[in-house]
Amino acid sequence: MVDAAQQPPAVHAEQVRKVFPPAEGVIADSAAGTVALDGINLTVQPGEFVSLVGPSGCGKSTLLRIIAGLTDASAGRVSVNGVTVSGVDTNIGFVFQDPNLFPWLTVRQNVAFGPNMRGGRRNPHAGDVDDLIARVGLGAFADALPQHLSGGMAQRAALARALVNRPPVLLLDEPLGALDAFTRMAMQDELRNLTRRYNTTTLLVTHDIDEALYLSDRVIIFSPRPGRIQEEMVIGSGFTRARNAPGFVERRLRILETLHFAPTEADLPESVGNWKI
Ligand SMILES: Nc1ncnc2c1ncn2[C@@H]1O[C@H](COP(=O)(O)OP(=O)(O)O)[C@@H](O)[C@H]1O
Ligand SMILES: [Mg+2]
Repeated sequence: MVDAAQQPPAVHAEQVRKVFPPAEGVIADSAAGTVALDGINLTVQPGEFVSLVGPSGCGKSTLLRIIAGLTDASAGRVSVNGVTVSGVDTNIGFVFQDPNLFPWLTVRQNVAFGPNMRGGRRNPHAGDVDDLIARVGLGAFADALPQHLSGGMAQRAALARALVNRPPVLLLDEPLGALDAFTRMAMQDELRNLTRRYNTTTLLVTHDIDEALYLSDRVIIFSPRPGRIQEEMVIGSGFTRARNAPGFVERRLRILETLHFAPTEADLPESVGNWKI
């Protein structure tokens, strides 16, 4: 068990703001440009699994990119494991919305890329490559090139490529978005097992509220742009991670309400008029 008191937070964001300069064809909020994020304060403890949910365009991907050091914040401060982010950090694993596989490498070569860079066979985790390829259900496609994979398969390969490095901090940007419902649930189980086994601090952006509830210790709900944290929901360790459990259903509805998508009685057909939240 991690003693949070002895370690700095895995991720700490303080008053983070991001403004993109005006761009051609974009109707900006102001002459300064598009305010993507404003006043973001977020602390993630080592080993914690936190999901970010919110409307499209509220800055979720931008926040992950700032934490990963891929883009600068316009104001505020971000640190990872106590060190101020000032560039790309190899202790951070990232799965982008777009799988971004190397097109000239096979699935196995893509997944092995990180371990090979760090010393190939001598790397203690190199044996994980085939195990992870099997876990994400791509055993039969290990020697295939990305062009022969479906979008969901490429996403699973990208997930294996990030997990094989056992990064202390893992940033996942809708990594399961292109998967069918059944594969998605199987991948959620793998993700939960692996991140718990390796005590990986994980920040997951997802549109799928059930996915957020199923996987997370905490769910952060963003407001529409400019993205601000609207609500935080702590998911207790005693929480029943079953999609039809009463506590699960109640939390799902609370998140939907916060996002303003919950049906009111007026929206419902008469046949379900007695339905109560
Ligand atoms: N590189 C960029 N240049 C200009 N504007 C951008 C850039 N990246 C994102 N934005 C804008 O910032 C806002 C937040 O984008 P993003 O972080 O991708 O949102 P989300 O991931 O929540 O859908 C959007 O309005 C988007 O158009
Ligand atoms: Mg995004």
